[in-house]
This record gives sequence, C-alpha cells and structure tokens, in this order.
Amino acid sequence: MNNGEKTPKILLTRKLPEAAEKAFANTFDCTFNPADKPMTSQEILAAAEGFDGLAVTSMDKFPAEIIKALPGSVRIMATVSVGHEHIDHHAARSRNIATTNTPDVLTDATADIALLLLLGAARGAHWGERMIRENRWPPPSMVTPLGSDVSGQRLGILGMGRIGQAVAKRASAFGMTIHYHNRKAVDDSLAPGATFHASFESMLPHCDFLSVNCAMTPETKGLINARTLALLPRGAIVVNTARGGVVDDDSLIAALQSGHIAAAGLDVFANEPNLDPRYRTLENTFLLPHLGSATLNTRTKMALKALDNLKDFFSGKKPRDQFN
Ligand code: DGY
Repeated sequence: MNNGEKTPKILLTRKLPEAAEKAFANTFDCTFNPADKPMTSQEILAAAEGFDGLAVTSMDKFPAEIIKALPGSVRIMATVSVGHEHIDHHAARSRNIATTNTPDVLTDATADIALLLLLGAARGAHWGERMIRENRWPPPSMVTPLGSDVSGQRLGILGMGRIGQAVAKRASAFGMTIHYHNRKAVDDSLAPGATFHASFESMLPHCDFLSVNCAMTPETKGLINARTLALLPRGAIVVNTARGGVVDDDSLIAALQSGHIAAAGLDVFANEPNLDPRYRTLENTFLLPHLGSATLNTRTKMALKALDNLKDFFSGKKPRDQFN
C-alpha cells in the first residue's frame, strides 16, 4: 500500500474489538484509545494533528465548524457506523476530506433488535421481567396483565432499505402482513408480498405496528409527530431502531400517555445518552440503550469494513462506502 511512502497515520477515536484493532495495527500507523475514553470534538481536533485519517464512531460529533477546524493532514474520516448524520459531509467535501460508513454488515443485528423491540413492546417483556425481578408474581387472573398479538397484525415499515427489508423478512415469519413507505418501491423479490405506499401518510391507517428504519435526514427529522401519529389506528405500537431524531418526543410521549399509541419499543433517542426522562416513567415503553449493532461479530465486521475503506483510500481507489 505504501509503495515506499510513509505508512498513513490513523487516529481511532474509540476502542474497537480486539481482532479489528490488530488488523488496523497491521495495516496503518495507528493511535488507539485503549481506555475507550469518550473524546469531545475539541479533544479530537487537538489529537488529530498530523494524522492522515480518522476512524470515528456515531458517538463522535463532526458539525461543519469542527470539520472546518480539522488539521490539513486529515484526508479521510471513516465512521464505524452505517448512520452518518453525525458528520457534515458537505463540509467534509469542501475540505476535500472523504467520508465513508459501514453499510450491510449490521443489517441482521439491527433487524433482530427491531423484532426484539416489537415483540417486547407488544407482549410487555419489560413489565413481565420487572415483576419477576421485584418478586411481584401477578395475582392469578385470565384478564390481567395482557399484551397484544403480533401474528396476523399489519406492520408498516418506514424506510425499506437493507434493514427495513430484513425486518420485513423476520416479521413475515411471525405471520405479520407487511406495508412499507420508501422513496420508491423496491423489487418484489426484496420484499415479497409487501404493499408499497407512495406516501407515508397513506400507509399509516394500515399499520397496527410501525417500525422506523429510515436514515436521519432533514426530510425525516421529526416525521413521527402529532399529525402522523394521529393517522395510526388507536392502539398501534411504534418501534424505532433508526435514529431518535426521526421522532418528535413530545408527540410520542403524549400519544403513549393518552393510550392512542399502546406501546413503544425504542433503541434510539434524540440527544443520546440524555433521553427524554419521561420515557423512563412510562409503563408502556420498552427501552434499550442503542444496541442495534451491539454484538462482537457485528462490531468486528463494522470495524473491518471501515478498515477496508481506509485501505482503498490510501491505495488510491475510491472507497466502496464513500458517501460524499
Ligand atoms: C449505526 O451504525 O448507525 C448504528 O446505529 C450504530 O451507531
């Protein structure tokens, strides 16, 4: 790769799985973060001096003003995530910094978490588990506590990309009927039997469950709001494994409090880790701390994909996952 040139210097802002760090160390001149200490944007700026590339994560924030202040040595930012709204890629482009992400390799893990949330929220996994831990076995009764069926129900998927399709496949196996809204219809082979809705609003009345699987963009920010939630049938269940910013928290919390939305399963939140504290107090929320891609196998594959993108770049090729 270096053809006699200096080995590129890469700064890794967060600790990555061991096998991936070994592969990084075998390829580049790397500075790791062995203590996995979170770095502020200012700390990253100071540390980035003299580095050719950065391997970052969705926990690091790179708005335009930070990108503009990056040292001139930095030519590529490889995020170990599929979501890339934490990087202002226009600002990066105008600084001639390439930006790459890690699609595909976390599809199954994230879809698994979507199903966990869907089932957990529907069947009250959170309250059932809490009862056991708190030694509160419910009094014998046929009518309380009760959850909702999943099989035979209609699932609406917002965003039919790779993860949306993997959610559809799993939900179909649970006997759900699939509806989806996407910028355009996907090939039938990718979502067999699913019904495409050209508008998000027209899909909502057909959804007993709604799974959010779209990217966070200016168009999707706050798309789940009072107006769109009102279009769901009363008692619908909302699941989000995409990004918290797609949901307007005030609206979802009000709908959960009124019972219009029976339950929500959420793995992602606006302003993580400082989620709206009202979610914690609601009995009808099943909550996880952004675990979508959190398996050793998946995180290793993500890190190795970021490494492949860096290798492509420093060998003079366009990285396969460049998004700017
Ligand atoms: C992703 O890769 O975008 C996951 O949500 C982790 O940030």
